[in-house]
Amino acid sequence: MDSDDKVKRILDRQVHGLAPDPFAKKSLYSYSTPRDKVIIVISFICAILGGVLNPLISVIYGQTVGTLGTHHQTRAGSPDSGPDPGAADARRQLLRFTLYWVYLAAAIFVLIYAATVGFYYVGERVARALRNAYLRSVVRQNMAFFDAHAPGAVASRIMSDMTHVQEGITSRLAIALTALATFSSAFVVALVVHWRIALVVSPAYVLMALFGSLSGARVVQYHREAKVASEKASGLAHETISSIRQVYALGIQHRLAAKYDGFLKEAGRPSRKALYLLGLFTAWCQLLPPSVHALTFWAGSQFLVQGGASVAQISTIAIVVVMGAFGIVRIAPAAQALVATVSSASVIFREMARRSPQDPFDPSGAVIEGFKGNIELRGVSLVYPKRPDAQVMKEVSFSCPAMKTTAIVGTSGSGKSSIINLLERFYEPTSGEICERTPFKSRILVL
Ligand SMILES: Nc1ncnc2c1ncn2[C@@H]1O[C@H](COP(=O)(O)OP(=O)(O)O)[C@@H](O)[C@H]1O
Ligand SMILES: [Mg+2]
Repeated sequence: MDSDDKVKRILDRQVHGLAPDPFAKKSLYSYSTPRDKVIIVISFICAILGGVLNPLISVIYGQTVGTLGTHHQTRAGSPDSGPDPGAADARRQLLRFTLYWVYLAAAIFVLIYAATVGFYYVGERVARALRNAYLRSVVRQNMAFFDAHAPGAVASRIMSDMTHVQEGITSRLAIALTALATFSSAFVVALVVHWRIALVVSPAYVLMALFGSLSGARVVQYHREAKVASEKASGLAHETISSIRQVYALGIQHRLAAKYDGFLKEAGRPSRKALYLLGLFTAWCQLLPPSVHALTFWAGSQFLVQGGASVAQISTIAIVVVMGAFGIVRIAPAAQALVATVSSASVIFREMARRSPQDPFDPSGAVIEGFKGNIELRGVSLVYPKRPDAQVMKEVSFSCPAMKTTAIVGTSGSGKSSIINLLERFYEPTSGEICERTPFKSRILVL
């Protein structure tokens, strides 16, 4: 029982590694330098400011329309001939608003440019540092780690999962922040300008958020299903072409072509559903501005005739609510991508925290000096971590003198390569030891 426990402990250690490193880095930004952090903070502020400023365009728009309207009324009230009394005043005001527009456009351009460049710059650097750290941690792992992973899994983690992470912390984060700021600012502007009209039009936000997030999630799901099926199709094509001689020899071209067709059809179904949904969503987005305008001008006209709203207020709300609604619809997909980033990153961090029980870079432990090569196996048993039920070697003892040729002979699967695996320390023996006997000093060192 005792020895069973010991074997189990040895196997567990190889499969799960040592206790995870408590000081392992667990946050993406711990892979950034202080300079990166400064850039991120600046980009963060720029993205939010850029988003907040956007709806202010509608305020200037409303003011401009208001000024034009007032001037038109004054002009209509004054005699037809003779100089226009309010013209100079109106021109001055319109010039001021035009300048505001130019300033706003320049500010938004600079802010969004700075935020985008900043996020991409840091994201690229963080992803590179993370890729490096991941590869460094992977090459320290023991063989049981690689036995448990499919051959392409590590490479795909480095390529596709890291790309996921990189996208998340660059474009998605910038879009999410700007969109959130645009929506919040638009919401506040509408309430401040005329809260009653703003409330009448506010269902547009809810509809847009609901429709955006629901259809976005479904489209992603359909794309995923389509991707799985088309991967099967391309896998089949790859295998068929690479073993085309056998395919000809067996005369199975038609069968394989039919199978390929089946996979393509399987991929086509979710793709088509995604297409319909995407079409519906695009059309819905086109429907939104006229509907919001209609509702705003209808509600606004009610308040206007009662003297409770001005043309400027109504025009501002008509524009700002559309901006806010388009802001909200960009938040959901960006937020979903951020969640995917966090989950990819957490898998990566968990793997990086794994401490290998046979770490080639760990300098601690006994070092054999003056190694001669007199190797001796004493009662060595081996169970592979992936096959805990099979005893591959049972109390094997023999010695290989240095500078002599030793032949290990046996049937296939008898464990010859396993002895070499143990010598190379790819696996741990479940009992016994492998030693180097140094004849002159009569010392025994465990390999
Ligand atoms: N990494 C491994 N994980 C699980 N079982 C293994 C592994 N490597 C070898 N084995 C199994 O151990 C046994 C001995 O294999 P091996 O040492 O390769 O034999 P030989 O080299 O004498 O042909 C075989 O049953 C083989 O299937
Ligand atoms: Mg072999």
